[in-house]
Amino acid sequence: MTENANSLSEAFSARTPISQQMAERAVKVLPSGVTHDLRYQEPHPIYIEKALGPRKWDVDGNEYIDYIGGHGALLLGHSHPEIVSAIEAQAKLGTHPGAAHQAEVEWAEKICALVPSAERVRFTSSGTEATLMALRLARAFTGRTKILQFTGHFHGWQDHVVSGYEGPSDNIPPLGILPAIAAENIVVEPGNRDQVAAAFAQNPDFAAIIVEPTGAHFGATPMAIDFLTFLRDITRENKCLLIFDEVVTGFRVAPGGMQELADVMPDVTTLGKIMAGGLPGGAVAGRLDIMNLLDFQATREAGQRKIAHPGTFNANPMSAVAGSKALEILGGSDICAKVNEKGEQFRQQLNQVLADLKLKWAVYGTYSGFHLFTNSQNRNIDSVNFDSAEIPGQELAANDTTVLSPLRLAMLINGIDTSPRFSGFLSAAHGNAEIDQSTEAFRRALELLIKAGIVEAS
Ligand SMILES: Cc1ncc(COP(=O)(O)O)c(C=O)c1O
Repeated sequence: MTENANSLSEAFSARTPISQQMAERAVKVLPSGVTHDLRYQEPHPIYIEKALGPRKWDVDGNEYIDYIGGHGALLLGHSHPEIVSAIEAQAKLGTHPGAAHQAEVEWAEKICALVPSAERVRFTSSGTEATLMALRLARAFTGRTKILQFTGHFHGWQDHVVSGYEGPSDNIPPLGILPAIAAENIVVEPGNRDQVAAAFAQNPDFAAIIVEPTGAHFGATPMAIDFLTFLRDITRENKCLLIFDEVVTGFRVAPGGMQELADVMPDVTTLGKIMAGGLPGGAVAGRLDIMNLLDFQATREAGQRKIAHPGTFNANPMSAVAGSKALEILGGSDICAKVNEKGEQFRQQLNQVLADLKLKWAVYGTYSGFHLFTNSQNRNIDSVNFDSAEIPGQELAANDTTVLSPLRLAMLINGIDTSPRFSGFLSAAHGNAEIDQSTEAFRRALELLIKAGIVEAS
């Protein structure tokens, strides 16, 4: 770390002494002191005590405007009063009946009503479990084994998807993954029709394509809608399934997710995050004939084997009532569209700051998300009119920690919490006050970095 980065780190620690003490305890019991890789931060993370609407407060009493949004789960903001009431009421009725219950039926009805391609839904405990089941369904339905996925696309941490996320590997499987499993993942560049067509020419036996329909990491490397149409066509021609991983996009870009906006119907959809109202949960939804592989009666009548699917916390009633309430509030409303507009406003305001400071970076993104392009190739860009589609995906995703880490600290010092790459989500609770305050905090944070010589204006 440079001397100037060190002084930033010291300034951060001076504001967060109780968090620092907590981190010292944490490293003795948790690897790296954290429970999610994205929460790792040097010199130490902030420990959050409470959160409400768009804001949260750490154990040292510092206030932050929050753009992590429960890793994208909180479209309605923290502790939405109606969701809190639903959870409280359910807690008094029992947290786990170990039985079928009304709330799971209502939750599934809402999902089937909102997600255009969902004829049946099966609940899981997380998005990762949802993609695990989606691939199992695809393999069982098609009788094939190979999965086509895209570089950088994230589908959770289960064994059958990490090859794509971890990127080019020279055929070395990700650590801990069986080579035989990794060999079934064919990973191609997002947006590259020739590579997809070549993969099909070489492997006519794909069970499924799985894709993040707005591009890797909610559009950090964006994906055009006509590419989704291309994927729909090529999967149909090759009798393989198309899986939209809508764990992030579902109930966020629109009540019916990206499939509603793009008008492209996948065979199977994976869901999580917003769907469970800020509590743990996930789901696989899809065509009846595919989902029937989980159905006792349908498989018996068809003389087929059934996919087994237990799961202690599937459709836990606490998550069911929170999720149902969230879907009731956003379904049929213009909340998603309004949050998308706020996202656009925020990106524009941040880009204006970059232009004012003559920094050749850009904030980009779609819908209610934002990402930062730190321009490692020093392109001559205009922040305010930046078009991320003109930049190769790998360059957009380049992760320059020498500037991103100090920027994160400078933002925290100025009361804003974003993800480590300076990306994040807006929620319905973010109003003009939060957006303006965050814009000014961005300006102050960048001025701090420029003054410290960590970032250079042109
Ligand atoms: C697109 C996508 N799929 C799957 C997952 C995994 O979901 P979970 O973290 O609930 O296991 C995520 C999580 O960020 C995601 O963004």
